[in-house]
Amino acid sequence: MSHPVLTALGLQAEESGTYLGNGEWSKTRDAGVLEPVNPGNGEVLGKVYASSQADYDLIVERAQAAFKVWRTTPAPRRGEAIRLCAEALRKHKDALGSLVALEMGKSKPEGDGEVQEMIDIGEFAVGLSRQLYGLTMHSERPGHRMYEQYHPLGIVGIISAFNFPVAVWAWNSFVAGVCGDVCIWKPSPKTPLSAIASMKICNEALRAGGFPDIFFLFNDAGTDIAAGFVDDKRIPLISFTGSTRVGRHVGERVARRMGRSLLELGGNNAIIVDPSADLKLAIPAIVFGAVGTAGQRCTTTRRLFVHESIFDDVLAKLVTAYKQVEKKIGDPTDPANLMGPLNSRDGVQAYLDAIARAKAAGGKVETGGAAIDRPGNYVLPAIVTGLKNSDEIVQHETFAPILYVMPYADLEDAIAMQNDVPQGLSSAIFTQNLKAAEAFLAASGSDCGIANVNIGTSGAEIGGAFGGEKETGGGRESGSDAWKVYMRRQTNTINYSDALPLAQGIKFDL
Ligand code: UN1
Repeated sequence: MSHPVLTALGLQAEESGTYLGNGEWSKTRDAGVLEPVNPGNGEVLGKVYASSQADYDLIVERAQAAFKVWRTTPAPRRGEAIRLCAEALRKHKDALGSLVALEMGKSKPEGDGEVQEMIDIGEFAVGLSRQLYGLTMHSERPGHRMYEQYHPLGIVGIISAFNFPVAVWAWNSFVAGVCGDVCIWKPSPKTPLSAIASMKICNEALRAGGFPDIFFLFNDAGTDIAAGFVDDKRIPLISFTGSTRVGRHVGERVARRMGRSLLELGGNNAIIVDPSADLKLAIPAIVFGAVGTAGQRCTTTRRLFVHESIFDDVLAKLVTAYKQVEKKIGDPTDPANLMGPLNSRDGVQAYLDAIARAKAAGGKVETGGAAIDRPGNYVLPAIVTGLKNSDEIVQHETFAPILYVMPYADLEDAIAMQNDVPQGLSSAIFTQNLKAAEAFLAASGSDCGIANVNIGTSGAEIGGAFGGEKETGGGRESGSDAWKVYMRRQTNTINYSDALPLAQGIKFDL
């Protein structure tokens, strides 16, 4: 019997994890099995049959054939295909949001919010399909015209993480889709059901609309097929979301074959609270940033720098707020809960190890710091004081709800500390002081890909380019001009004169 949330989406207790195109799900049953676990109670949610090497090869072959058709389909027509996907997701938002909550462990409102991000990027991509602009330039030669155009790139490989099991795929595939690319997705082995459900919804919408298959899916029981995927020369772009450790490996492998990679790796995001900050805004933003998704967003707030004059007040208010959150930790599919479990037992262990290391380094756990004694991967969100920004554990991204709170005296020092970590994803300042806000956003301010004023570090909107610097990997996806990474740029010079002047005034008379 499958869970009612799966049934609502037409999923069975046993599913193939391979979409081969042509409306076909693979019949492979001997390439291993993934068993996603409900992080809320430890029960296995279903069986997903992993893909074989032969499945993978067939997918790439079909994706190559699909690309030949898709690349010459007019971009606004490709936009219509993505519009149908967004419309179908809108219809299934409640059910898919519940599945994301069930399988990943994030709260139901956050699961729904993740599906909303898919819908939003879909609608963004529809508009974008008429705006894949290149520039025209003035040639230095008479009777010549220069311009640039963007062509579809080819097959885009998407490797996504468990924490955003569906939205990150949509950010990539919907934008890549209007750009004329065909996508092959390898989701996290921890959340294959959310991926299968998303593929069913979108591919059925595409087929009903008379569109070819542009989205393929495989699941790897081990790492061999995924390793071959990263090394596959037929895939010009690999978009990888996950840890810095794995991302470094992926980036190196793809670079070796002169491919393109888009890396969205770890964050160690900080908020600065200056003496003028409006705490009515700052406190809920910090709590949502640190505790939302149980601290498992790459944009989670992990470090907090509070001006020494308000340090005790801010800390007391945070501890009070955390005690309120503690009352609402539980089944993520119940919309009344603010925080669900961590996704895995490994996550709980990493949380406990980090707390132990923080204590060993002289940290004081102000609240939380323990696992909750009940079935499922539940922990208490923790606030730790007494550590320095340079302490090893503070420099490290632990994918769990642990917030290191540190005082500062001088804004310049706070900005320097906020920047002094290997990662560079998201950052924020709470201030009502214009000079402080502008200093934070200046070239000498935050070194992150995202820098906010009076809102927290997480929950970025899809309209902006999303990504970060340093060990976050440098990639940008989602809105703004992030689409350019999914296309190949071509510069064209056209001579409509009767002469052949060379550039730079070079003479070459035969
Ligand atoms: C991630 O954690 O991989 O900004 C993505 C946010 C979300 C996306 C996070 N919109 O928190």
